[in-house]
Amino acid sequence: MKNTKSHDFFRYLAPIYDTVARIASFGRYDSMRRSLVAQAGITPGDRVLDLATGTGYLSEILDGCEIVGADISLHMVNQARKKTEASFVLSDAHALPFESNSFDAAVCSFAMHEVRDPKKVMSEMFRVVKPGGTVAVMDVVLQFTPGKKMLLFAYHLFIEMLTANYIHPDDLADAFKHADNVISKTNMAGLVAQVSGKKK
Ligand SMILES: C[S@@+](CC[C@H](N)C(=O)[O-])C[C@H]1O[C@@H](n2cnc3c(N)ncnc32)[C@H](O)[C@@H]1O
Repeated sequence: MKNTKSHDFFRYLAPIYDTVARIASFGRYDSMRRSLVAQAGITPGDRVLDLATGTGYLSEILDGCEIVGADISLHMVNQARKKTEASFVLSDAHALPFESNSFDAAVCSFAMHEVRDPKKVMSEMFRVVKPGGTVAVMDVVLQFTPGKKMLLFAYHLFIEMLTANYIHPDDLADAFKHADNVISKTNMAGLVAQVSGKKK
């Protein structure tokens, strides 16, 4: 079983998370997350799950939608509550406390490397989305060329402090194999993958 980053970690990180995340993404914090939201094709009025919402950035930029932010860390959710009116639910992404087919879209940014079982988490995202609704996931992924491996190692060492379990791009693709309209993109020189697809 993979290790999961201790939730206590976020107790200390939560107050400075936005600043750290902006530095870690070399100024691309906002543009990458906006790109994922645009790719998801979310429209005003949609009911959207922001899974592993953290400090709620995706929730902040999803104007005009009914947003539910879910996260396992009370400390992160408390930061999010200071910024947005979205409703927040403390929950484990492996067993979401939502009815099947109850969201128009589910998005998740930079959290698959935190969870024990990314496949289970993505299957939960597909479960709660309505047929025709969108699932969109963005995260740092494993790298395979020497240069990219070095880049990932530097990121792993200095930004993630050796705690992350990066997802294999094939596992990400596999989670979307039953979806329609699958779109895959990369960001930050291929370090970050973003995939979206519609539930059949
Ligand atoms: C690196 S932060 C990403 C936050 C935000 N989505 C973003 O793009 O900045 C990862 C988040 O995943 C949450 N998380 C980790 N394991 C989780 C789990 N099993 N269920 C729900 N949330 C989890 C953490 O509490 C943390 O807020």
